[in-house]
Order: sequence, then structure tokens, then C-alpha cells
Amino acid sequence: MTDASAAVATAHPNIALVKYWGKRDEELVLPLADSLSMTLDVFPTTTCVTRCPGAPADAVTMDGRPAAEEVSQRVVRFLDLVRQRSACGDRAVVDTRNTVPVGAGLASSAGGFAALAVAAAAAYGLDLDRSDLSRLARRGSGSAARSVFGGFALWHAPGPHAPDPDAASFAEPLSRVRIDAALVVVLLDTGPKSVSSREAMRRTVATSPLFPAWLASTRLDLRRMRAALEAGDLAAVGEIAERNALGMHSTLESADPPIRYRTGQSDQVLEQVRALRSAGVGCWATMDAGPNVKVLCAGGQAVPVAERLAGATGFPAVIARPGPAAALCPRTGAGR
Ligand code: DP6
Repeated sequence: MTDASAAVATAHPNIALVKYWGKRDEELVLPLADSLSMTLDVFPTTTCVTRCPGAPADAVTMDGRPAAEEVSQRVVRFLDLVRQRSACGDRAVVDTRNTVPVGAGLASSAGGFAALAVAAAAAYGLDLDRSDLSRLARRGSGSAARSVFGGFALWHAPGPHAPDPDAASFAEPLSRVRIDAALVVVLLDTGPKSVSSREAMRRTVATSPLFPAWLASTRLDLRRMRAALEAGDLAAVGEIAERNALGMHSTLESADPPIRYRTGQSDQVLEQVRALRSAGVGCWATMDAGPNVKVLCAGGQAVPVAERLAGATGFPAVIARPGPAAALCPRTGAGR
């Protein structure tokens, strides 16, 4: 154990260009396929974990208020994992500050659990390298495995015969990316989604007749995406990302009962993106478990694309560029 009883960490959300949609193990949060994302430089989450020797229970607050029961239970289960690995059974106070609307398909759980993993590991004195932190963050929310890293990251699904699937599933940064990209986030709706991504994913795997095809196509997309990123081919990156996202939404819309995150407003943004492309502006849409649309474009085009999308739809458009890795805040000591 270190003597630090409190640690503060910050992490940013990430947006997948090749989506994670489907688990092979709910408990360990193991995905069925690799996924690939860009960590953003906007909407950070900052989490403080303070060990409280003698306290009877963990206390979880979000933006200064007690967290909802479901959120609190998820955080406590996560802390239990950290306690199992450390020599310390102390309960803790966890205080999280979000700058991203929670549960709106804006990847708040990715930044949230990445920040929690880094802060809790430090507060409980775990000596974890970045891959271990990614594995740990994954247990809170799968996509959080990628937010441990900045820039572009690939999260590995364990192979079908991996002797230790838990050890085999972590994210790593992609170092040979040769595109200068931005994501314009069109904020259509910041309210919480009707079906959580966890439940939606479960239902899709269990009931969607399209799921096997989705799995095969996303594996192919991943290989092509990686090659396009390394070749600096932004148009190929955008085309693969848009098709991958639309494929994911078709798959979940064919679940029983169907899940629909896209709204008429999302479709309007998709139309604007197509119109911009017809006018010669390279931009491509992606969507997650919510109606908000994120638009990939060249870094140098982000301002005009954001202005056009905000002007045409009347909704705010936030420009996100590749952001930093999850990190301890300096006053709590050095991270690894
Ligand atoms: C659509 O990581 O939120 O954003 O592992 O159940 O917590 P759990 O799911 P979560 O799912 C993210 C789904 C997605 C695609 C992606 O980020 O790859």
C-alpha cells in the first residue's frame, strides 16, 4: 500500500469508429469482437476516491448529489473488485464530477469508469500498468477500457480459445494513425436513454436475427479501419465508421422487442451530413446508444462543419479532437 488514502483522476469519453456491441461474458465484460475508438478532448469526468477506514459502507456522489441507486451499486461492485486485489478492505467515498450528460449515448460511462479505475487503483495502492488499468476499467463499463488511453485505441476481444480471456481483453493505443480528424458532436438530446446500452446489448445478442451478420461485418470493418487509419485515408475511415454505426443500429432495431435510439432529429443530421458530402465536404456520421450524432471530418474542416450542422438543425455542435489518456491529477501523486 502507498500512504495515499485519496486520489483524483480525470478521463475523457471515447467514440467508437468500429463499435463494441455484444458481450461473450457479462460478468467479466468480455466483448465478442474488437472495437476501435477516438478518445475526445471534451466532456471530461473527474473522480475522487477517498478511503475511509472504519466506515460501514461506500458513499457515492455524482455532481454533488447522492448517486442513483443503480449507479451507486455499479460503483460499489467496482470498488469490491479493487478491494479484492488490494490488501485493504476500507470502504470509500467516491465523488464524481461530469461535464458530459450522463446516459445520453455520449460515452459518460467510458470516461467515468476510466477515471474511477485510475483513482481507485491509486487510492488503494494497486501497482497497475496501463494494460491492467484498461482491464480494470473494462469491468465497470466495456468501452471504458479504451478511455484509459488517449488518441485512437483498439480494445481486444479475447480469442475463442484464449486460456485466460480476462487477461487477453484490454485496450492499447494505436501509434501509427496518420489522419488529422475531429468529431463534431451534435447535441440533440442530453436526457438519459430509455434502454441502457447494457440491456440493449444483451437483448440484441439474444434476439436479433441480424446479430451474426453484424459480428462478421464488424470484424472485417476493424481490419479495414486499422489499415485506413495507418494509410491516412480519412474518406475510408469515415465510410467504414458510418456503415459500422448504421449496421449496429439496424441490428438493435431488429431485436425483439426492437430498440430504437435514432430519432427523426438524428435522421435530419444524417441528411445534412449527406448534403455536405454531396457539396464536396468530407464528413461521416456515427451514433451510439442515444439519438446524438457525431460527425467525423478533417481537423481543419471541424469549424465549418460544426457551423453548418448547428445552423441547419438549431442544435449545439461541439468540436472534439483527439484527447488525452486518463490520468491522476497531479496533487494526488504520480501515475504510471
Ligand atoms: C454503442 O461500454 O456502455 O457506445 O459494457 O455494458 O457498460 P457496457 O456497455 P458500454 O457500451 C458502449 C456501446 C457503444 C459502442 C462503443 O462504445 O463501442
